[in-house]
Amino acid sequence: MHDILPADSPRWQLVESTFRNVARQYGYGEVRTPIVEPTALFARGVGETTDIVEKEMYTFVDKGEDSLTMRPEGTAPAVRAFVEHNVSGQDPVTKWIYTGPMFRRERPAKGRYRQFYQLGAECFGDPGPFVDAELIDFVVRFFHEVGVTNVEVRLSSLGSGETHARYREALLAYFTPHREKLSTDSQRRLETNPLRIVDSKSPEDQALAANAPRVLEFLSDDDRTHFEELQRSLDRLKVPYFVDGSIVRGLDYYTRTVFEVKDRSGRLGAQDTICGGGRYDGLVKTLGGPETPAVGFGLGIERLLLVLDDAQVASAPSVFVAVVAPELRTDAMAVLQTLRHAGIAADADLRGNSLKSQLRRSDKLGAKVALILGGDELARGVVQARNLETKETVELPLAGLVDGLRGFAPAFR
Ligand code: HAM
Repeated sequence: MHDILPADSPRWQLVESTFRNVARQYGYGEVRTPIVEPTALFARGVGETTDIVEKEMYTFVDKGEDSLTMRPEGTAPAVRAFVEHNVSGQDPVTKWIYTGPMFRRERPAKGRYRQFYQLGAECFGDPGPFVDAELIDFVVRFFHEVGVTNVEVRLSSLGSGETHARYREALLAYFTPHREKLSTDSQRRLETNPLRIVDSKSPEDQALAANAPRVLEFLSDDDRTHFEELQRSLDRLKVPYFVDGSIVRGLDYYTRTVFEVKDRSGRLGAQDTICGGGRYDGLVKTLGGPETPAVGFGLGIERLLLVLDDAQVASAPSVFVAVVAPELRTDAMAVLQTLRHAGIAADADLRGNSLKSQLRRSDKLGAKVALILGGDELARGVVQARNLETKETVELPLAGLVDGLRGFAPAFR
């Protein structure tokens, strides 16, 4: 788990505000759900045999003897809220985004935390491949807007009912002769959920899984048509992608479309998946709602920040107000208030230090302009303004100071 200090915050704010902005363009509204949910929600929603549910959840019994879990992901809570508020009864197609912390007790590694933050989106009510394409276009647009370009979209389909059954048989037939070579977890999962062996994290399983049958060969006609329509839509939207039949995803609810966005810069090491998502047409029903198809994604903010170029993060232009003598500090405060009320970030060092020391503080804060208040100037109704980048200095009248400042330093316009 980690802290986010003010020096890092502008990057977080840039990511979150860009996400909200793009989401608005695609017709998504924001939902906020609690951080804890009943444990059963994740056991049923994410899947009893997933790593998340078997090993990684922060679960506790509260004073009322209820078993609660810190949410490990955002889809099951979104579905819970969707069902609880009977949203499908009010709106046939519902598009939600969310942001916030998720909790998984994984082994810490670069880009892997136990409390991490996701940006997520879920679209309920439309079974067609067109909303899948729209959602992937939304993700790609977001990456573009936030300034991350060295990523690629990998796409596959896990199929639905009939495909699942046939693929399960094929996996059983493939893994059973090698049973002894599998990890203990996977030997158990052979009966319960052989798909989980394919994305197992243990090396002995991975060696075998590399040659396991791939799901795309088993798609039913309907599943194949859905997958092909999706690809045609993405082609039409000029969204680049690769078909990658090895995608399994670590959660049980997926049907048909699955996708991942991977970093190509190499800066993330083994944890190079920044975003993962897909369709989950059965989950709303499983969690007690009406039959409702749905599709969504989750995007890890820490991983995104590891590949985000700092050049994209413009710090707010700010003004530093300094005084030549301590008794002018109330005048400084009046000037600060005027600037702040005009929407300009402004600060000062009001401890009564020398002008030189105040200007050192101004440098440290990265101010763009310093306003220096002197007794004689104030008596004449002016202040000295110094552009700290170009070093140009002028006198600005106190009356109309904000307009004067905007004229002097274009960054404040
Ligand atoms: P997920 O693949 O488990 O999917 O997580 C999505 C993203 O969250 C990952 O690609 C990664 O960037 C980030 N992430 C996951 N675990 C960690 C961690 N321990 N530390 C840092 N980042 C992490 C889901 O959670 C699904 N709910 C996505 C979804 C939404 N599918 C449909 N709708």
